[in-house]
Amino acid sequence: MSQAVNDDMSARMTLRRMPFEYVQQADAHWNKNQPEFSQIVNSASMAMPYLEPYLIRTMRKARPDITDPQLQEALDNYVFQEAQHYQQHRKYNDSISAEYDCAKAIEERLAEDYKKLERDKSLRFNLAYAEGFESMALALGHMLIEDRDYLFGDADATVASLVLWHFIEEIEHKNVAFDVYEHLHGSYFWRMVGLVYASVHIFWRTGQGYRALLREDGLWNNLKSRKRHTRVLLRIFRQIIPRWLRIWKPGYHPSQVADPQWALDWAAIYARDPLQSSQLDTTRFKESRPIPLST
Ligand SMILES: [Fe+2]
Ligand SMILES: [Fe+2]
Repeated sequence: MSQAVNDDMSARMTLRRMPFEYVQQADAHWNKNQPEFSQIVNSASMAMPYLEPYLIRTMRKARPDITDPQLQEALDNYVFQEAQHYQQHRKYNDSISAEYDCAKAIEERLAEDYKKLERDKSLRFNLAYAEGFESMALALGHMLIEDRDYLFGDADATVASLVLWHFIEEIEHKNVAFDVYEHLHGSYFWRMVGLVYASVHIFWRTGQGYRALLREDGLWNNLKSRKRHTRVLLRIFRQIIPRWLRIWKPGYHPSQVADPQWALDWAAIYARDPLQSSQLDTTRFKESRPIPLST
C-alpha cells in the first residue's frame, strides 16, 4: 500500500461549481487562429460525458474495498470533481452536436467502448485504466498551462476557461486514482498496461473524432489546414512525450510532479470570485498569472 505525500493543490481539493451556463452559444472554432486545435479539443470534449462517468463508476465500485478513510474521502472529492467536468463538457458539447452530423457516430462509439470495458474487463483493469488516464491528464494539464498562449491565446474566453479549469482540477486530484490503484492492487505491470491502453484508446478515438469534424468543416484536405494541424500535433507530442515517459518509472507517484504556480493563482481567483475564474482574458496569456476578463 502506498500513502500519498500530500502537497500543494492536492492537499486541499476544492469542490467547485463553475458558472459556465453560456457555453451553449460557443462556436466550434473557438480559437479562430487554430481551427485544428479547436477540433482536437472538441473531439476530446465529446469523450468526457462517456469517459468520466466510467471513471466515477469504476472508483465507486472500488470504494467498499478501501480501508483508509482519508483515501475514501479523497475518492468522494474526486467523484465530485469528475461529475462537474463531464456535466460542463456535455453542455458545451450540445453546441457541437447541433452543428455537426458526425457527432452522433463519435459519441456512440465512445459509449460502446466504455460499456464494453466495464462489462468485459476486471475491476483491476478498469482501475489501471483510470490511473493511466489520470497520469496522462496530469501531463496534459501541465502542457496546456505551460503552452497556454500558443494554444489558447486570443481564443474564446469561455471555452479556454472551461478547458483550463478542467485540467487545473485534474492537477488538483492527481494522486487519487494512483493511490486507489496502489492501495488495492499496486502491480507495476498492470499500471503500465492501464497507461498504454488508456493513452492509445483516448488518442485513437480523439483522432478519429477530430478528423471527422475537420472533414465536415471542409478543412481536412486543405493544405494550409493540414500544415497547421501537423505543427500543433508535433508541438503537443514534443511536450507530452517526456512527461508521459516519467510515468513509466517504477517509483513514480503523481505527488512528485510539482503544481504550476499559474494553477495555484487560478484557484485563488476562484476563491475570490468563481465568475471571474470562468472568464479568463486569453489576450493576456503571455503574462505569468491568469487575468480575468473583467479586470
Ligand atoms: Fe476530469
Ligand atoms: Fe481526473
